[in-house]
Amino acid sequence: MKILTVVGARPQFIKAAAVSNIIRKEHNEILVHTGQHYDENMSKVFFEELKIPKPDYNLEIGSGSHGEQTGKMLIELEKIYLKEKPDLVLVYGDTNSTLAGALCASKLLIPVAHVEAGLRSFNSNMPEEQNRVLTDHISKLLFVPTQAAKKNLHNEGVQSGVYNVGDVMFDAVLNFKKLAEQKSNIINLLNMEDKEYILTTIHRAENTNDINRLKNIIEALNESNKTVILPLHPRTKKYVDSYGLKFNNNIKLIDPVGYLDMITLEMNSQKIVTDSGGVQKEAFFMKKPCITMRDETEWVETVENGWNVIVGTDKNKILDAILNFKTSEDQQNIFGDGKASCKILDIINCIVK
Ligand code: UD1
Ligand code: UDP
Repeated sequence: MKILTVVGARPQFIKAAAVSNIIRKEHNEILVHTGQHYDENMSKVFFEELKIPKPDYNLEIGSGSHGEQTGKMLIELEKIYLKEKPDLVLVYGDTNSTLAGALCASKLLIPVAHVEAGLRSFNSNMPEEQNRVLTDHISKLLFVPTQAAKKNLHNEGVQSGVYNVGDVMFDAVLNFKKLAEQKSNIINLLNMEDKEYILTTIHRAENTNDINRLKNIIEALNESNKTVILPLHPRTKKYVDSYGLKFNNNIKLIDPVGYLDMITLEMNSQKIVTDSGGVQKEAFFMKKPCITMRDETEWVETVENGWNVIVGTDKNKILDAILNFKTSEDQQNIFGDGKASCKILDIINCIVK
């Protein structure tokens, strides 16, 4: 079978790192990189260190407004789909690359498989929410990572083709943890041996594009007096610079890091403070307390389990959680058994002829 996979943004490279090599054991995979993320430390580093197959096509679409970026992807993807004639198009997550990949296939009547289907924040202002709702409703195979995601689809009347396989990001952590322990030198480089620190990421559009929200977050981190390691997403850097916001000395700003360094930083952190979807899950996998600077989360089970707290961008709530949030004692199994990629392959083999 010919399976065409579309990736474009950092978290999709990590998901593909878990799935692509499994799919290639039995099928011909064509990998298309839209070029949504293009800096070396947002793209190339993942392909190299995680041995993700080299993309067959890089569309080099780059940054732009939503319409421009998604529209350019559609134009280029259509040419490739017509040429390659895939039996199935596989997309991940909720980015503009996800929507373009799925929509283009749907218009050409090519079945779509959506990995990480069914997640909902119920905040329709989020570009990610728009992308995932639209993608789910044009997908033939919906690989959900959690029970909550399955229930969300059920509530929207999407019942056929839905499979709870677990989370491919759990596969990725299990696959690469040992390699990270062998290869990553980030703790030494940052002089963090035996030191306590908080790991933070910020990139969600609703936080970066609103000066008050971003200012509250940075003030909370500044005032925490904790050592904070902050690999800064290029979107956030752009807004921090344009708003003229300043970080105190307790914050170690670094460039975005590769996945092996990132999971090493997570494993060695005291707490994780983030607005990322993937990092919330990784905090759970690493058994680290997670403080989520959003008004809602798609990963509701991590909160219900007592490992994640939603604090929005209220400075006092962030500070209070940094100082006082404690997790529950044990964890339920939310994200499956770390074999989501194999299950995806099995289901594709059974369903798509
Ligand atoms: C995108 C996804 C978001 C995902 C995130 C993962 C959409 C709508 N958003 O957000 O769901 O959580 O990726 O990281 O698809 N930039 C660079 N270099 C790069 C990439 C981006 O400088 O390699 C800068 C550009 O100024 C760009 C901005 O970051 O305008 C935003 O990039 P974009 O891909 O549009 O959205 P993300 O915020 O990365
Ligand atoms: N990540 C990384 N380097 C960084 C920041 C994040 O490798 O500097 C990884 C992180 O471990 C996780 C993924 O990127 O696997 C999450 O992506 P991101 O936060 O960009 O997007 P989201 O998950 O919110 O869509």
